[in-house]
Amino acid sequence: MPESGGTCLPSENTILQDATTRFVGAADNHALDEAKAFFLGKNGQLQTLLRGLPSLPAKERPAVGKQLNALREKIEQLYQEGRDRLRKEKMQRTLSQKIDVTLPGRQIESGGLHPLSLATERAENIFSSIGFGIADGPEIETDYYNFTALNHPPDHPARSMHDTFYTSDGRLLRTHTSPVQIRHMLSHSAPPIRAIAPGRVYRCDHDATHSPMFHQIEGIWIDDTVTFTGLKGVLGAFFRAFFDDDDIALRFRPSYFPFTEPSAECDIRRSDGDWLEVAGCGMIHPNVLVHGGVDNTQYRGFAFGVGVERLAMLLYGVTDIRQFYENDLRFLKQFASE
Ligand code: DAH
Repeated sequence: MPESGGTCLPSENTILQDATTRFVGAADNHALDEAKAFFLGKNGQLQTLLRGLPSLPAKERPAVGKQLNALREKIEQLYQEGRDRLRKEKMQRTLSQKIDVTLPGRQIESGGLHPLSLATERAENIFSSIGFGIADGPEIETDYYNFTALNHPPDHPARSMHDTFYTSDGRLLRTHTSPVQIRHMLSHSAPPIRAIAPGRVYRCDHDATHSPMFHQIEGIWIDDTVTFTGLKGVLGAFFRAFFDDDDIALRFRPSYFPFTEPSAECDIRRSDGDWLEVAGCGMIHPNVLVHGGVDNTQYRGFAFGVGVERLAMLLYGVTDIRQFYENDLRFLKQFASE
C-alpha cells in the first residue's frame, strides 16, 4: 500500500507478518484478545490505515479498500485459529493426564448402629433363637394399659414410683414396656404366647444412672405348663448368651410388682464381679391374665423386664448412662463395625 500523508505506516505485509507471529505465539486467550485489539481495535493498526484512505487519489481508493478488507479477514481468521489451537491444546492436556489406577478409592463413610440399637438387636436375636416373637406397642399409652390393666388400680402406691409425662387428653408416656403384655395377649386368640417387646419408656428421673427416656425389653411366656423354674432357665440362658459367658450365676431376690405374683428381682454375677440387678420378673398375676383375655384357670405365664441401657453399660463397660444420648461421635464411633 502506498504511504499516506507522509506518515510512515507499516505495510500490509508487515502487519500480516506481525499478526501471524503474535496470534500463533499467543499462550492464552487473554494474549489473543490483546493482539486482536492491537490490530483490529478502534485505535488499531487497520483503523489507522483506513483513516488514510480519503487522502489517496480517488481511483486508487477502491483497490486499496479491498486490500484492507482482505487484511481484516485474514487477521480475524488468525484470531479464530488461535482460539481453536488453544482449545485443542487444553483438551490434549486434560486427556493426557495420567490416571494412577493403584491409588486408593475415595472412602465412602458408612454409618453405624447406636450401641443401644446394637444391644437391642443382640437381645432380639437371642430371644428369637429360643422361639420368642417380637411385639410392639405405643409410647403414648393410656392410663388403663400402663397401670390399671397391670393391676395398679387408681391410687395404688406403686404408681408413685412411675411418675411420668401426661398429655392434655389424659394419656401418658408409658413408664415401662409392660403394657405391651396386655396388648399382645388381647391381639392373640389363645396361648401359647411367647414374645418380647423392646422399646422406649419415660420417667421423671435424671442422673448418672437414670435418664427421663430409656429402653426396656419386656418378655412374656404364657402356656399351660409354664413354671417359675422355666423363667429362671430362660433368663439364665439369655444372660449367658448376651454376655457370652457360660459361667454367669443367677440369683432371684423376692420383690414386689403389682402385675406378678410371686415377683423377683434377678441379679447376675460374672466370674470376677459383684451381683448386679438386671431384671424384674415373676409369674403373671391372675388378674393381668384376665385383663389380657386369657383364661387364668387354664393358663399361667411368666414375665420379665430388663433395662437395655443397663445391659449395654455392662456389655460395653460404659459408666455414665448420659453418654448414650449426647451424640458425641468420639463415643459412638467406637461401636461402629468396620
Ligand atoms: N415394668 C417393671 C418396671 O419397669 C419391670 C418388670 C418387672 C417387668 C417385673 C416385668 C416383670 O415384666 O415381671 O419396673
